[in-house]
Amino acid sequence: MEELTKVKTEEKLGKMIVFASGKGGVGKTVLSVNTAVALAQKGYSTCIVDGDFQFGDVNLAFDLQPKLTISDLVQDIKSLTSSMLPNYLQNHESGVKVLSAPLKPEYADLITASSIKDIIQKLLELHEYVVADISSGLTENNITFMEQADKILVVTDLEMAALKNTKTMLKTLKVLNMTEKVSVLVNRGNMESVIKFKDVPGILELRDLFYISNDFKVVSKSFNIGIPFIISKPNEKITREVNYMVDKICNRRYSARGKRKKKKSFLDFLKRK
Ligand SMILES: Nc1ncnc2c1ncn2[C@@H]1O[C@H](COP(=O)(O)OP(=O)(O)OP(=O)(O)O)[C@@H](O)[C@H]1O
Ligand SMILES: [Mg+2]
Repeated sequence: MEELTKVKTEEKLGKMIVFASGKGGVGKTVLSVNTAVALAQKGYSTCIVDGDFQFGDVNLAFDLQPKLTISDLVQDIKSLTSSMLPNYLQNHESGVKVLSAPLKPEYADLITASSIKDIIQKLLELHEYVVADISSGLTENNITFMEQADKILVVTDLEMAALKNTKTMLKTLKVLNMTEKVSVLVNRGNMESVIKFKDVPGILELRDLFYISNDFKVVSKSFNIGIPFIISKPNEKITREVNYMVDKICNRRYSARGKRKKKKSFLDFLKRK
């Protein structure tokens, strides 16, 4: 599995993680939102883009009311300087910056692949991690997000339809030369289903899979009240699983809630003497 080691310098761009799926409703929004918060908790400057332009609900998951959205950003992008970009993002108390989806589904058509590329480029100049929650399927816009990604997490659950579409999606991503940056994330891995988690490697012909538990109580409540479970339920198993996945992707040693240690400067050293 390709791992992302992130060292941000003035010149270097951040890294982008995209949550994709062949079938809808498998948990992309829930997991991308909690991943973004986990990254922020670990000390990374993090932005989440709601790439589900028609029916995005990242705002709801964060209980935020957008003032400006990606539609406004698309209109202004050509004349935009980096210092103006934060005006289009909403600040969540976790530290995550949110670029919201358009307020109306009909505005989605105004967002082109080339504007997506420009926006991602600019977001990566300002953040160490950009997380994108996209709609299901392989639309032109979704492929643009995936092309820009350093890591694509293809989310599935244990339903036959989801696994079938995942397999088809993996084949297409192979043709598009993206296999190296793809990992499969099995969400609700212990849900009631004829297919069990242990069957998935055989079905998808893959050994390396991320696993997230089925936890209706925690996930549903946190989604409905707009507080990511990684904040409200720090000790739950599902929170540990998301943190484990994030640490793996960032090539960190697993730490449940640990913040990134600040590097000690020479001045700190002298002060202690
Ligand atoms: N690990 C989980 N355990 C229990 N329920 C879950 C889990 N993950 C997601 N869900 C539930 O599944 C439903 C769909 O989740 P979500 O909206 O994140 O999926 P999605 O892939 O973003 O859907 P869409 O393709 O429509 O955007 C939600 O009601 C959510 O509460
Ligand atoms: Mg979604």
